[in-house]
Amino acid sequence: MTLRGIILAGGKGTRLGELTKVTNKHLLPVGPYPMVYHPLKKLVGAGIQDILLVSGTEHMGDFVELLGSGREHQCRLTYRVQDEAGGIAQALGLAELYCRDVRSLVILGDNIFRDSLKDLVAAANEKPDHAWVMLKRVPDPQRYGVAELRDGRIISIEEKPKKPKSDYAVSGIYLYPPDVFDFIKTLKPSARGELEITDVNRHYLENNRLSYRELPGYWTDAGTLESLATANQLVAKEMPSY
Ligand code: G1P
Repeated sequence: MTLRGIILAGGKGTRLGELTKVTNKHLLPVGPYPMVYHPLKKLVGAGIQDILLVSGTEHMGDFVELLGSGREHQCRLTYRVQDEAGGIAQALGLAELYCRDVRSLVILGDNIFRDSLKDLVAAANEKPDHAWVMLKRVPDPQRYGVAELRDGRIISIEEKPKKPKSDYAVSGIYLYPPDVFDFIKTLKPSARGELEITDVNRHYLENNRLSYRELPGYWTDAGTLESLATANQLVAKEMPSY
């Protein structure tokens, strides 16, 4: 089954203060590139040619100006407008028409990481009906989705728990079979008013269809002033492999 890429690049970027007053977070610099180049290059590097970018109305024009048809990046880009930010799962739901009959490799546009996604794609090809998450051990798991592991399997997954059951953060890199869109339609907003990607992942866990890989190289999000600075330091030290 074919694999298409999805980059989620919406949101208000409020945690970045003045930096996102007139622009979108994913257009800010990380190393020598605008942030969004990194997930785009990861997808292309993993052999994906068809990529959907989801963002809000405010800056979609800037993304189109920056990336165009995707020709310069060896891919075909499609753009989908998210009228209002309603959570990662809501944004992913907007990709239904694009990915109805294919699997989707989804990257949150502010996730910056070292490793290529070729291994994930190869592993997922062996279990095409599974959802896949990428895990990374972090010192501050309470900031993220957290997976608890036992005997090489995920046994629980929680969104930003006060008392994390492990130090395995669920990164913003996901691979889903096409039935993800059916489940998203049944989701209810969380306490913070969003459709949560962690609820999607938990659904696959409960159905024994959630698999994972670990990211051996560095990984960070870049959605706060501190993590944006970290992302720039990491990329300056060692460029990601695409
Ligand atoms: C989101 C997800 C969280 C995940 C993180 C990775 O959190 O909800 O599960 O660990 O992305 O970047 P956010 O940073 O959007 O609050």
